[in-house]
Amino acid sequence: MSESGTSATTPYDSLGGESAVRRFVDRFYDLMENEAEYAALRAMHAPDLAPMRRSLTGFLTGWLGGPRHWFEENVGVCVMSAHAVLPISAETSQQWTDAMARALAESDVDADLATRMNDAFGKMAGGMARMAANRNN
Ligand code: HEM
Repeated sequence: MSESGTSATTPYDSLGGESAVRRFVDRFYDLMENEAEYAALRAMHAPDLAPMRRSLTGFLTGWLGGPRHWFEENVGVCVMSAHAVLPISAETSQQWTDAMARALAESDVDADLATRMNDAFGKMAGGMARMAANRNN
């Protein structure tokens, strides 16, 4: 451990780096693509999920403490604001967090880390649904 603490392990490192992030993101979109219970969430997305697989992998890589390429390529983009225009309901918010929790559980992510990630995703997804609900009031 250096004095500045810069050698502290990040969640990204604990997970196993980029290939681990790509694995659970791919699982997330495979579930969205194939499971009927996520049909409403799938319908909100473009027919081709490949750009989203890349974008969510890049965002979560930086968010988890790994390389920040996504943030350098999307300067000033706030992921919450990017969703403010979307018609996100309580139902599709729940579908997102359910599919992600399943993807983490099925991708050998450490259970404690998965819990912390699911908590954070729940807060973000809940906030996105509230933004959409407030807009419609
Ligand atoms: C609340 C439930 C959510 C719904 C319904 C939702 C839906 C969407 C949709 C429809 C898009 C555009 C996709 C497309 O063009 O095909 C999108 C983009 C994106 N979402 Fe979500 N999302 C949700 C939650 C989240 C959360 C919690 C995160 C982050 C942890 C996230 C990260 C992203 C990113 C990084 C993009 C791409 C932005 C870009 O490249 O411009 N989303 N989302």
